[in-house]
Amino acid sequence: KQKAFIFDLDGVIVDTAKYHYLAWKKIADSLGFEFTHEHNELLKGVSRVRSLEIILGVGNIKATQEQKDKWLVEKNEDYLNYITNMEADEILPGVEVVLQWLKNNGQRIALGSASKNARPILEKVGILHYFEAIVDGNDVTNAKPDPEVFLRAAELLGAVAKDSIVFEDSVAGIQAANIANMVSVGIGSRAILHEAQYNFNDFTEIATDFLQTLVNQQ
Ligand code: G6P
Ligand code: MG
Repeated sequence: KQKAFIFDLDGVIVDTAKYHYLAWKKIADSLGFEFTHEHNELLKGVSRVRSLEIILGVGNIKATQEQKDKWLVEKNEDYLNYITNMEADEILPGVEVVLQWLKNNGQRIALGSASKNARPILEKVGILHYFEAIVDGNDVTNAKPDPEVFLRAAELLGAVAKDSIVFEDSVAGIQAANIANMVSVGIGSRAILHEAQYNFNDFTEIATDFLQTLVNQQ
C-alpha cells in the first residue's frame, strides 16, 4: 500500500530549533527580559509573526507595527547567519535511514513546515531529493494547529487524510495532524507531546517494523 509520510522540518529533520531559540533570545535580551527554554516550547511549529507576538506577550511589551517589522527582520537575519553553513551532519539521528526506507519501499514523502526557510535548509543538508512535495510557510495562510499545511501536503501527494502520517516535534503540529485525522507521530518528549498517537524520542527509535505497520494499516 502507498501512504503519504509528511515531515515537519525544524526539530524533526534538522536541529534548527536551537537556532530559532538563540535568534529570538537575542531579541528578548535586547528588550531586557528573560526568554527561557520553556517559553521556547510555545514557539515550536508557530509562524515567525505569531512567534514574535508570543514573545512580546512574555515580556509584556507593547510595540508599533514598525518596531515589530524591524524585529522580525533582525530575527530572520540572525537565524540565516546560523543556518548558512549547515551541512549534512546537522540532520537529526536516524532521519535519513527512515527517509531511505520509505523511498525504497515506494512510499510518498512530503514536507509540512511553517518555516519560510525550508527549501534552502533541505538543500544545504542535501536531502531535498527525498521530497515529492514541499508545503512551507510561503504556501499557507493558517498556522498550526490549523491543519492546512498537512492537508495541502497530503493533497499534493494524492493521499486522503487517513492514509497520511505526520512526524512532528511541536504540540501545535501534533494537534494539527490530529485535527486533520492523520496519524500523528511525536518526535521528542512524551511529557510534552502526549496528544500524539505514537511517540519516539528520535528517529533512531523508529524500527522498520513500525514503518511497515504504518504502511499496512487500514
Ligand atoms: C517552524 C519552527 C518555528 C519557526 C517557524 C517559522 O515551525 O518550529 O520555530 O518560527 O517554523 O520559521 P521561519 O524560518 O519562517 O522563521
Ligand atoms: Mg518543528
